[in-house]
Amino acid sequence: MAPRKVTIAELHRLHREAQPIVALSLYDAVTAGFADESGTHIILIGDSVGMTMLGYADTIGVTLEQSLHHTAAVARGTKYAMVVGDMPFLTYNVNVAEAMHNAGRFMQEAGAEAVKVEGGRNIAPTVARMVEAGIPVMGHIGLLPQRVKVQGRYRIHGREAGEAQSLMTDATALVEAGAFSIVLEGMPAELAKQITDSVPVPTIGIGAGVHCSGQIQVSHDLLGLLEAYLPKHARRYAELASEVRDAFAAYARDVTNHDFPGADEST
Ligand code: KIV
Repeated sequence: MAPRKVTIAELHRLHREAQPIVALSLYDAVTAGFADESGTHIILIGDSVGMTMLGYADTIGVTLEQSLHHTAAVARGTKYAMVVGDMPFLTYNVNVAEAMHNAGRFMQEAGAEAVKVEGGRNIAPTVARMVEAGIPVMGHIGLLPQRVKVQGRYRIHGREAGEAQSLMTDATALVEAGAFSIVLEGMPAELAKQITDSVPVPTIGIGAGVHCSGQIQVSHDLLGLLEAYLPKHARRYAELASEVRDAFAAYARDVTNHDFPGADEST
């Protein structure tokens, strides 16, 4: 079948038919085109852009303007996948009016087809207002990178019964607010299964085991671009860091030795 634009209806069909949903977090038009060719269903312009592209230690420093800039680039490079803009720290939880305005910018200025926000029942009233206004929203519960300064570190959530129950309540609140899908990050596989079995929308896991309706990974982890660290949940499908390093070293050597440009590369 010829590729078709991925819509919420298509994601829900895949979910109903128990076909895994493929999602990637990436940040530029070129890799967006490659992901699109691969049949990836959802491209998230994650606020992980802070660490992968912008040199920050975490996601906290990422601004709305930076996210809009990268989202617009991805939207230009994507034909089929659903483009989801990740709303950065403090752009959706100060007040509802600001959240609506900022989410609107993702849709109108950057070409996003949906936005993602971190949080559960605390953010549900904002999610409901966005959905009511025509903005599709993806939820995100479990390990929430935007709370790292409060929590002090990244850790698995929901190991203990009270926290697991609280995550279940968060998932239900997001569904009731109209979220079309929920990212489950950093939680035991069994809890992710229970949430997945109890909500009517697809769950997209990262570090949440095999039972989610789909999986999302950060493209730089899969591509081996960040050599220093590979999260436990990630698998390297390429070793681009060493290829890029070798290529730059070879180019520098050739220029230094007057081997580049050669006769064929000169006019
Ligand atoms: O920022 C990001 O890339 C994300 C995904 C990993 C879910 O939030």
